Amino acid sequence: MTARPTQSTSSLFKPLANAEAPVDIWFNDAPLRVPGGRSVAAALLAAGVARFRSTPVSGAPRAPYCMMGACFECLVEIDGVPARQSCMVEVRDGMRIRSQEGARDLPPELMQDATPAATQNAPALENADGR
Ligand code: FES
Repeated sequence: MTARPTQSTSSLFKPLANAEAPVDIWFNDAPLRVPGGRSVAAALLAAGVARFRSTPVSGAPRAPYCMMGACFECLVEIDGVPARQSCMVEVRDGMRIRSQEGARDLPPELMQDATPAATQNAPALENADGR
């Protein structure tokens, strides 16, 4: 009896024959060469990245699900901008991408708009990491 071939778990994604040249990016401060000509999410998945963010409450790991901008499971920080849908942004050479841990920080401009009267009885503004 011969053993049945098992499904490869290295990547569920196969490159197209006319795939564009690879690009060099940074993911969580580590250099990474990924396939070009596709979304950040597709490029990271093809490179073997499985954890894109963590949930704000439990810290459970999350990764892209719909790949079409509907589920928001693929949120990452791209070039310093938090909460970007990585499935909706094309990967470019030199991008600095970070996984999004918990809730994103509020943009500084929103913090400056908060008036003392508006924030007097409001709960402290911080994410799960205490930022
Ligand atoms: S994977 Fe669903 S919004 Fe990006």
